[in-house]
Formats: sequence, structure tokens, C-alpha cells
Amino acid sequence: MNPALNPTPLADETAASTLPLLRVNQLTRLFGHEKGCQDISFDLYPGEVLGLVGESGSGKSTLLSLLSGRTPPDRGSVQYRADHANWLDIYEAGEARRRQLLRTEWGFVEQNPRDGLRMSVSAGANIGERLMAQGARHYGQLRETAIHWLQQVEIDASRVDDPPRAFSGGMQQRLQIARNLVSKPRLVFMDEPTGGLDVSVQARILDLLRSLVRELDLAVILVTHDLAVARLLADRLLVMRRSRVVESGLTDQILDDPQHPYTQLLVSSVLQA
Ligand SMILES: Nc1ncnc2c1ncn2[C@@H]1O[C@H](COP(=O)(O)OP(=O)(O)O)[C@@H](O)[C@H]1O
Ligand SMILES: [Mg+2]
Repeated sequence: MNPALNPTPLADETAASTLPLLRVNQLTRLFGHEKGCQDISFDLYPGEVLGLVGESGSGKSTLLSLLSGRTPPDRGSVQYRADHANWLDIYEAGEARRRQLLRTEWGFVEQNPRDGLRMSVSAGANIGERLMAQGARHYGQLRETAIHWLQQVEIDASRVDDPPRAFSGGMQQRLQIARNLVSKPRLVFMDEPTGGLDVSVQARILDLLRSLVRELDLAVILVTHDLAVARLLADRLLVMRRSRVVESGLTDQILDDPQHPYTQLLVSSVLQA
């Protein structure tokens, strides 16, 4: 049996690298019959990229919002293991702790970069903000780091003082990625990060994300309705339909040999497109 399909607790839980980063148990939030998500359980390991796929309205964004501490569940739990620390139940911890996680060890890349950037302050300030939240004060170093990160996301260093509203959509999305990754998060949530962009621009951002995720050994939970994006970035997939996970497993396995009729339909509709 494939261990990724059914992550059982490992025998030696003292080896930190083999412990999950996130433990999700029976997570449920419903807005109506089969609207939202229900009974979602999985473990996410450090450095792993998990894709949430499924048709529009299947509950992907709701689940992401519960996982990232933004919306309290009706029931179920999300436990996060901070570095060298015990499990933290993120909804038992206070709102302040969740916000702090989102500013430091976690990142959240919004589909629309305007929702994740401060549009009227400079690109450099957008990148520096999380570092300042972590206590960085040295202006020269902040600026140097900002320029380094602009280059990482292929934005010319000369744009450091420009506000994001002067950028194209693709540049704004790359800036949002830099703003999130600068604090070296361990876990990054992304909701359709290339969904609003032209296809040519998407390809470049996907390439960039792929190399950054590897380089930084990031764990990522990625919502996408685009199976090509899932194929490119995700190690493992949860397939959602009407608020439930109907299939889960390794990305290649699911896309090449889908078991559930709904997944078969999803995969075949992409092939025909
Ligand atoms: N805040 C909300 N209030 C009421 N219904 C909601 C809310 N958020 C999502 N829904 C409903 O829950 C279902 C799942 O939505 P969503 O999680 O956004 O799906 P997806 O991201 O897969 O397209 C949809 O039917 C949506 O209309
Ligand atoms: Mg959505």
C-alpha cells in the first residue's frame, strides 16, 4: 500500500524530521448542505506540497481558510508543530497567536495580489514588513534583503521604491510571493496563485514557485482547479467534491490512474480541453 495514501503515525516519533508539520482531524465547516467542507483529515509533512483540487464550489477555499487559521471550524482540529515545540491546536490558541503565525512561520499567497499586498507603499516596504514584524530594524539590511528578494522573483532591483500599483499583474503576484517567502516560512498556503493571470505569465510564475519551493524546502497547501498546475507543483492531492475528499494520493498516481469516477471525469475533461 502506498504510505502517502494513508499516513499512519511513524513508530519513532522522536525523530523531528519524520513528524508531520500539520495534523488535520475531522475538520468541518458547513454553510449549507454539502456547501463548505466536512470530515477532512490528513497529515502534512515538512517540505511536502499538497494540492487541493476539485470543481468550483467543492469547498477548496473553505478548507484552506480553516487550515490557515482564518475561519474557525464547526468541529475538528488543526494542529501545527512549531520548531522544537509541542503541538499547537491553532483554534485553541488565541487569535493573536494565529495572526502571529501568519506573519512569521506561515505565508498566505492570495489569488488576487491586491489582497495580499499593500498597494500604496513601496515594493521594498512590502517585502520588509514581515522582517520588521520579526524585529528587524536595520534599514540598510532591510533594503538589501528586499533587493535580493526582488531579484529572486525576477523583478528589477531598480523597482524597489515603486509601489505595486505601478506593476503588472504578473509582477504583483511575484512581489506577493517575495513578501511571503522573505521570512522563511515553513508552511505556505496558496489559493489559485496563478488563477487570475494570462497563460504566458502563469508559466513563468509556476516555474519560479517550483524552484523556490524546492530551494526553501517549503511545505505548501495549494488550492487549484487547474490539474496542470497541480501536476507541476504538488506531490500529493486531495480531490474534493461537494465538501468531501473523494480521493487522495500521490499526484502522478491520481492523474494517471484516477480511481473515483469524479476524479476520472475531472482528469478526462482536462484532456479534452
Ligand atoms: N462565507 C460563506 N457563506 C456562505 N456560503 C459560503 C461561504 N463561503 C463559501 N460558501 C459556499 O460553500 C461552497 C464552497 O465554496 P468554496 O470553498 O469557495 O469552493 P471552491 O473554492 O472549491 O470553489 C460554495 O457553495 C459556496 O457558495
Ligand atoms: Mg476557491
